[in-house]
Amino acid sequence: MGKGTVYPFILKFLLKHLRANARLLETGCGAGLYRGPLSRAGVQYIGTDVINDHYQSPGDVDVYCSANYLPFANESFDLVFNQGAIDYMPQPENVLAEAWRVLKPGGVFLIFTYEHRVLLEIHANCLKSKREWERTHWVFESSEMIDMLRAAGFQSREVSGQLDTWRPKGALNLAKAILSGSLAKTRLANSHWRVFLGKKKKFGLLWP
Ligand SMILES: C[S@@+](CC[C@H](N)C(=O)[O-])C[C@H]1O[C@@H](n2cnc3c(N)ncnc32)[C@H](O)[C@@H]1O
Repeated sequence: MGKGTVYPFILKFLLKHLRANARLLETGCGAGLYRGPLSRAGVQYIGTDVINDHYQSPGDVDVYCSANYLPFANESFDLVFNQGAIDYMPQPENVLAEAWRVLKPGGVFLIFTYEHRVLLEIHANCLKSKREWERTHWVFESSEMIDMLRAAGFQSREVSGQLDTWRPKGALNLAKAILSGSLAKTRLANSHWRVFLGKKKKFGLLWP
């Protein structure tokens, strides 16, 4: 099995948006590490990526393809997501348009990505990297992603404060954070992660 990390807060977030038997697509899946836990939860997982020897071992990827051109039928998934991958994908507008196309009406696209400041650090490393797949890397502000999702036809918002990336130590601190209404803010301040949610409207045009 190849390299990568299953983040418990991402798994929890995904499961919150899934029902049993839901059909889920991960783009830029790397080693496809979410297949195990999601399948055990009754989700039909399909992991896609381009060839990437750094992350993948044989058998890790279900379908080799670019997120720009997905070989799947219109309206065939309940949820599409990627983790730490959108910033490596060329032509992100196409990636978003393809996610919209393959999602069923009412389906959800989730982008788990790093904070802007972290993407800048990654970008500096990519500029020095000799690995081919790190040559394409872009950095974006949250407002850019929200606008791009809207342009692709999604109802979009950033929901990073809902990611359970940080827990106050002790019940008293947790109670204080909740009572002061600052739990989401405190999480945001302590997290390296952002998550963007795009919802495909139930009723709308077939193409945005
Ligand atoms: C930093 S890795 C993250 C891998 C995995 N999501 C993880 O968290 O372990 C970025 C991934 O994006 C993939 N990628 C780059 N361009 C892509 C494209 N056009 N379509 C699909 N995946 C792409 C890379 O092959 C790589 O697996």
